[in-house]
Amino acid sequence: MRILVIGGTGHIGSYLVPRLTIAGHEVSVVARHAKPQYTDARLGWKRVKWIIADRAAEERTAAWAQRMRSIDVDAVVDLLCYTPEQSRVMVEAFRGRVTHFIHCGTVWAYGPSERVPYEEHMERRPITEYGRHKAAIEAELSDLFRREGFPAAIVHPGHISGRRWLPIDPQGSRDGVDVYRRLATGQAVHLPDDGLATIHHVHGDDVAQMIELCLIRREASLGQSFSTVAPYAMSLVGCCRAVAGMFGVEANLAFVPLDQLARHVGERSAGIIREHVTHSPCASIDKARRLLGYSPRFTTEQIYAESLDYLLESGQLTL
Ligand SMILES: NC(=O)c1ccc[n+]([C@@H]2O[C@H](COP(=O)([O-])OP(=O)(O)OC[C@H]3O[C@@H](n4cnc5c(N)ncnc54)[C@H](OP(=O)(O)O)[C@@H]3O)[C@@H](O)[C@H]2O)c1
Repeated sequence: MRILVIGGTGHIGSYLVPRLTIAGHEVSVVARHAKPQYTDARLGWKRVKWIIADRAAEERTAAWAQRMRSIDVDAVVDLLCYTPEQSRVMVEAFRGRVTHFIHCGTVWAYGPSERVPYEEHMERRPITEYGRHKAAIEAELSDLFRREGFPAAIVHPGHISGRRWLPIDPQGSRDGVDVYRRLATGQAVHLPDDGLATIHHVHGDDVAQMIELCLIRREASLGQSFSTVAPYAMSLVGCCRAVAGMFGVEANLAFVPLDQLARHVGERSAGIIREHVTHSPCASIDKARRLLGYSPRFTTEQIYAESLDYLLESGQLTL
């Protein structure tokens, strides 16, 4: 199959593109540089057809729409679409010309958890602009499928993680390696409130797996949305205990009200933590298991273990 991957060199694309080329597909990738950021360009990238373009710049003129209309493929995977306006340009360019159109959303489209685990059929109540835009794109694409059979499928990843970049950490932030050092050496780590807010990671390769499964089980994926997450969410306390346990120590946890956390972690980090605590994502993968056979390779603990292995090996985390 001829597949276009837009934004195919980042967290998801670095894993997705080699999966697709190894499976024998002809893959075109749009990016500003012909280089995967997180996997080795020598493995699975040699046959990629590069389309070097700056989407943001081209969207300011008609150049992007023209470029999209000129591309002849069977399937499109759009990893770089953040607004309904951008999505409509893609629909216009590929309507009637592709058999599959996969949009990458986010669990932020769901909004804060109410009933858990969240299932895809439940109401969307996004609270950020990012989440509202993604929910609006999803609604439009789903509607287009129902009304005219536009071949859309939507994947909603959790916190994407991988070996060579920092995952959302056990405090709910992404603030360098200090929290890992503290957990590894028994120093106090401050958590918001009772520390039971949840985070829901997913490994970049499991997002790639979900997209590949959509392509393989096309009929089952059409018109559907799929939460794309690890097998289970974890509380911040659980994440801290898991990471400390990897170093053979008990987590030394201190609990402070969320609105006082900035005193301990700084304003920037407290803002990131607040966003994660407020959402407390926890999504079900039952539908993806049932319809697509999705079977995530990585739990949250395994994501932390892989990432810590890299931080230690690369000398970024010293103990
Ligand atoms: N990251 C998360 O935790 C997370 C969670 C949930 C959902 N998502 C969704 O995942 C999608 C992003 O995927 P990702 O995390 O794999 O992205 P990413 O790591 O940011 O990678 C995007 C790739 O696209 C290329 N790119 C960026 N800007 C571009 C532009 N203007 N024109 C052309 N290429 C451009 C970049 O390569 P160059 O620099 O070479 O152009 C980059 O490698 C989004 O739809 C987002 O909403 C992300």
